[in-house]
Amino acid sequence: MKKANLIIDRLNYISTIDDRIYGSFIEHLGRAVYNGIYEPDHPLANSKGFRTDVIEMVKKLQVPIIRYPGGNFVSGFRWEDSVGPKELRPVKLDLAWFTTETNQVGLQEFSEWLQEVDSDLMLAVNLGTRGADAARNLVEYCNHEGNSYWSDLRISHGRKQPYNVKTWCLGNEMDGPWQMGSKTPYEYGRLAKETAKMMKWVDDSIELVACGSSNTMMPTFAEWEAVVLEEAYDHVDYISLHNYWSKIGLDTQSYLAGGLIMDDFIQSVVAICDYVKAKKRSKKKINLSFDEWNVWYHTKESDKKIEHWLQAPPRVEDIFTFEDALLVGGLLISLLKHSDRVKIACLAQLVNVIAPIMTTIGGDAYMQTIYYPFYYTSVYGRGDAIRVNIEAPKFDCKEYTDVSMLDSVAVVDKEKGELTLFVLNRSVDEDLEVEIDLRTFEVERCIMNVALEGFEFGAVNSVQHPHDVVPTDKPVGICSDGYLKTVLNHASWNMLRFQLKEEI
Ligand code: AHR
Repeated sequence: MKKANLIIDRLNYISTIDDRIYGSFIEHLGRAVYNGIYEPDHPLANSKGFRTDVIEMVKKLQVPIIRYPGGNFVSGFRWEDSVGPKELRPVKLDLAWFTTETNQVGLQEFSEWLQEVDSDLMLAVNLGTRGADAARNLVEYCNHEGNSYWSDLRISHGRKQPYNVKTWCLGNEMDGPWQMGSKTPYEYGRLAKETAKMMKWVDDSIELVACGSSNTMMPTFAEWEAVVLEEAYDHVDYISLHNYWSKIGLDTQSYLAGGLIMDDFIQSVVAICDYVKAKKRSKKKINLSFDEWNVWYHTKESDKKIEHWLQAPPRVEDIFTFEDALLVGGLLISLLKHSDRVKIACLAQLVNVIAPIMTTIGGDAYMQTIYYPFYYTSVYGRGDAIRVNIEAPKFDCKEYTDVSMLDSVAVVDKEKGELTLFVLNRSVDEDLEVEIDLRTFEVERCIMNVALEGFEFGAVNSVQHPHDVVPTDKPVGICSDGYLKTVLNHASWNMLRFQLKEEI
């Protein structure tokens, strides 16, 4: 068996992880909201119409922030349609997904649901068909105490306390021709700046995310980020990254190496942010919000056949495989490796739409394969990220050469005195005998060893077989002289937790 070494040195501190790196996303799209989180006729619905089984599954993921209400949907959305008495809310055509939107779930209802799942709102404003005026009114409606038109309107809707939304997105994917009101980088940069100014004049405690490119294949990628930031640098706090991974045209080995795309994307956007910083002689640092990331390809063809103007038709309901879950585990490692600059990230999305949680109408909900790496990383990956030095064999595949079989990051939770190691063995056929060097950490013992491994690459969970692809609890190894020896099987995502001897 081939060998590898992982050296975890406490001095290789990357950053204190911002919890919002475990964010997610719910859009008015398909069955995410209606017949997803909200199904008033379901036997498990609470008095507000939200499914309690879904609430429980979301709560377990400990998602600290959820982006809402889109996505592409937000670029044609009038937020005023979704507040106030439900019976007065208009039914509208949504041109993003060619559906009919009833507005029965809006800001107030979604906030109530967020309270149930212990999550904060990350609210996107419409910079497609609307602009700075509607955006600053929304900040006033959400965050101003009272004694102004929009805040008093909120109070008249029964909501005395402001929503106090802290994190806001300045539109969505404004570079994409599919977007209502798409723009050139200069047009968007100017609009983002003016909107940001006015939103912060209403409430200077808010943080703003400017739109970056929709993905790295956009013809304006890189130039977009540079031009937008040159315009809006002083007024925004983050720039967004979006990417969806697809296996179409790839072999499994190349697909599992997809974390390299994320590493590269993040490094490129950091470089552009810092280029603009240098150009402006600015002291301010722009951080990254990877506010849409996931696998998405299974439904790309079949969704083209969906009839127009239905209410909440099933759409983008990708059924994720074991190999998708391995990739998602690897992407989480990549986010943590870059947690010095990636402060917010949103798994897109959360329920039914390219989601870790699936529901059936009137029936059960279940966890998809990707639920598990997200769950373990979110629950145990809080604290300080530590870079892992990796000595591992490499492979060549169709898309890349010299790819390390292992990718890894560690996280120290100082309060609990615990160290957690996340490792992906992305080789499709090589098990590795791995020596983990933990000497700088004074490890008491290994307390948990979980692996997602050993399934057919195409294996999935379903409502009939919800537990076909789940991680295994493996025996914990014995640490000796600060080393632990273990075998990391081919195509496996692993989490090892260690109790430390003393507080660090
Ligand atoms: O998450 C689905 C869609 O993907 C979002 O609406 C859009 O922002 C992206 O293209």
